[in-house]
This record gives sequence, structure tokens and C-alpha cells, in this order.
Amino acid sequence: MENTGCFSYRDGQLYTEDVPLRVIAAAAGTPVYIYSQTELTQRAAAYHDSLAAISPQGQVCFATKANSNPTLLRWLAGLGLGADVTSGGELFLALQAGFSPDKILFSGVGKRREEIELALDNNIHALQVESAQEFDLIGQIAAARQQAAPISFRLNPDVASETHPYISTGTKAHKFGLAAEEIRRLAPTAAAHPWLHLKGLAAHIGSQITRLEPFTQAVQLVLALAAQLKSQGISLSYLNVGGGLGIKYAEAETQDFSPPTIADWVQTVARPVAAAGYPVFMEPGRSIVGPAGLLLTHILYTKQQGSHNFVITDAGMTELIRPALYQAHHPIVPVLPRAGTPQTVDIVGPVCETGDVLGRNRTLPPLQPGDYLAILQAGAYGFVMSSNYNGRLRPAEVWVNGSKWQIIRPRQTWQQLEA
Ligand code: LLP
Repeated sequence: MENTGCFSYRDGQLYTEDVPLRVIAAAAGTPVYIYSQTELTQRAAAYHDSLAAISPQGQVCFATKANSNPTLLRWLAGLGLGADVTSGGELFLALQAGFSPDKILFSGVGKRREEIELALDNNIHALQVESAQEFDLIGQIAAARQQAAPISFRLNPDVASETHPYISTGTKAHKFGLAAEEIRRLAPTAAAHPWLHLKGLAAHIGSQITRLEPFTQAVQLVLALAAQLKSQGISLSYLNVGGGLGIKYAEAETQDFSPPTIADWVQTVARPVAAAGYPVFMEPGRSIVGPAGLLLTHILYTKQQGSHNFVITDAGMTELIRPALYQAHHPIVPVLPRAGTPQTVDIVGPVCETGDVLGRNRTLPPLQPGDYLAILQAGAYGFVMSSNYNGRLRPAEVWVNGSKWQIIRPRQTWQQLEA
């Protein structure tokens, strides 16, 4: 395994920053998510600083759907980030974490009335409108309250991206956003509306995208639409380029391509927008928190069945669903690698589903019950997608800073399954 700085081998065992993972496992139990505060901070700062250099009035809004641990959100708010939320629940968490309301964006195709009201109660930066009917509802609610409602339109740019079909969002085959024609039709109504305040345009084309071209294309389309609106006398106060920068999931030896850096991505998407005179907003999630987290599990049993060597761990699809849902590849490494001949194994969870696989055909040093395994690149869309299926408890979360570590969410208890 590549030493990444925050997760590295020293004296034959895996550390997060300066803490041996076996120490955390022994004290906090497994399965447990472990985050590196330093890695998270560096990634958030890379976005914040790269954007500040290009667009001082711009804003990085962390997509809280990627990880909404309250401690982690408080930390990101403290670093000056805003939040992109996707439900009343995430809006609540963002406000509780101390994100300044004027740095909060609310995206999502199915906002309920009470969620729109919560956003207006708290004067967030903008509700990102994703349908004509939602647009009408926000207008009605704002008029009834006699309160200006800040909105932006989310453009569906109809740009294809090479990512997993479940996480591609930016073509007309997807439910997200509004077509450019629809925005051109609605914008004059917004501009003339006594209680709607049209502030911006947004586009998010999908997630885990590792090439820059689709982003460049989407940004050009957002700029073209902003220019058309301007020629109709409708001027906007910011443009939002979305999120979606991918991270490197495969091990170095199986991957001949690295995703662009955060700084490269920010420059590519923000420069043209800033050059056109607009403050730039963005809503990255995965690339801030994904590489800063791992899932630590221990081996319950090993068994051979047919030609398969199964390694059964105490984590499964209930803790990390990405491999089962998207056939996602996460690197899996032993915490204390044993000497001996490597074996090819399937690492599977305890859930009663054939698809409950964490990693197939992995070649690893000899493994025994009780050994710890670390599933890397798991900080984004990990804990947040965990579930209680099969009566499983949501795992604990820990974070590490230098040689200090603390539990930032305790493991659920069986009693909580009754709530
Ligand atoms: N903004 C909007 C409107 C989004 O829908 C998303 C992600 C983001 C920002 C953040 O995108 P990111 O920078 O994280 O790529 N569960 C899937 C990912 C779903 C992403 C949904 N939208 C996974 O585990 O890969």
C-alpha cells in the first residue's frame, strides 16, 4: 500500500497520523470509521485557498451528504467552509454545526414544504430550484410569508460523464435540475416576482468524475446561459459549478491514471467563471472527506468454499455499501501484515445477502481470525449510507489528530434498535 501521509505503515503496522490503528481497535472496538483531522483539513484548505485566490467572493460549500458527522461538520464550518445540504435533516445538522446560514445552499429534487420553510426561517444563501412546480411552491410560500426567498436554478447541462450510472446526474435522462429552455422560461417570472430573489445558477453533473473535460463543458454551458439571461436584463450574483471531483480508489499498481488535484480542478472550473465576473460557488464532498477516512474491521472467520477463500469480517454492506451498490473498489490492507505467502481472497461481511462483499479477488498476506483490516478511501459516502439492516448497529466514528484520538460518535446499542 502507498503511504498517504495520514495512513502509513511504521514498524510493520498501520497508523493513522501518529496513532497505531490496533490501539483504536482495542479500545473502541470494530467496525469503526477513523478519520484523519490533518488530511481533512489539508483537503478543505486546498479548496478554500485555491478558490480564494481566484474568486475572493466565492464560497466552497461542503456537500454534507458525503459525511455529516457533527464533529467533522463543526470543524469544516470553523475552517470557513459553507454547506450544500439536501434535506431538512442535513440543513438542521449544518445549522447546529455552526455553518453561517448565508453560506448554505439547499439542493434536491424533492424538497418538502416544511423544508423550504426551515430554509426561509434561517435565511440560507439559496434554495436551488430543480423543477417548475418547486419554483411555484417557493414563490407561493415566500408570498404568503411576505419574505424574500433567495433562489438559484440548477441547470441540467445534458453533459455525460464517465462515472457509475447511479451517480451520474447531468443528462436529460436524469431527474436532476432544469433544462436550459425551462430556466430561460422561468427566469423572467422569477425576476418579476415580488418575493423571489433570483441569485444564481448551479450545475452538478455527477460524482466520482476523474477527467476535467466534462466539468469544462458544463461550466461553458452555465456561462452561456448566464450570458443569455443577462442579455434579457436578468443579472445573477454568483454561479455554482457543483461538485463531483473523483478520488483514487484503486491501488497504485492497478491504476495508470490519477484524478486531477483539487487545485487543478478548482482552477479549471473557477477561472472561466471568475473571468466572466461572477463569484464562484462550488459544492465538493467526496474529494474533501473520502481519502481522510477508513473503515477498520476485524476478521471473524476464514473459510474455503469451492475455489474461493472467504474472509468474513465484522463489517459488511451495512457499514460500507459502496462495493455492493456500485461495485466500487476500495483498497483493503492488513493493519499488521503477517509474513508468508499471499493468498487471493474474497472479503465478505456478515449480512444475509450474496452481494455483501467488501472486496473480491484481493491478494493479501496470510490472514487469520482476529486480524484487523483497513478499508481505505472510505470517509465519503461511508457512515452516512450505513444502515440497521439485519439488526446491525451503526458503527462508531473516531478521529485522530497527531497522537490524540477521540470517539466522535459512539457505536449504536441494541436498545437504539427499538427507538
Ligand atoms: N452537489 C450535488 C447537488 C450533489 O448531488 C452531490 C453528490 C454533490 C454536490 C457532491 O458530489 P461529490 O463532490 O461528493 O462527488 N453515494 C455515491 C455518491 C452520490 C453523490 C450524489 N451527489 C457514492 O458513494 O459514490
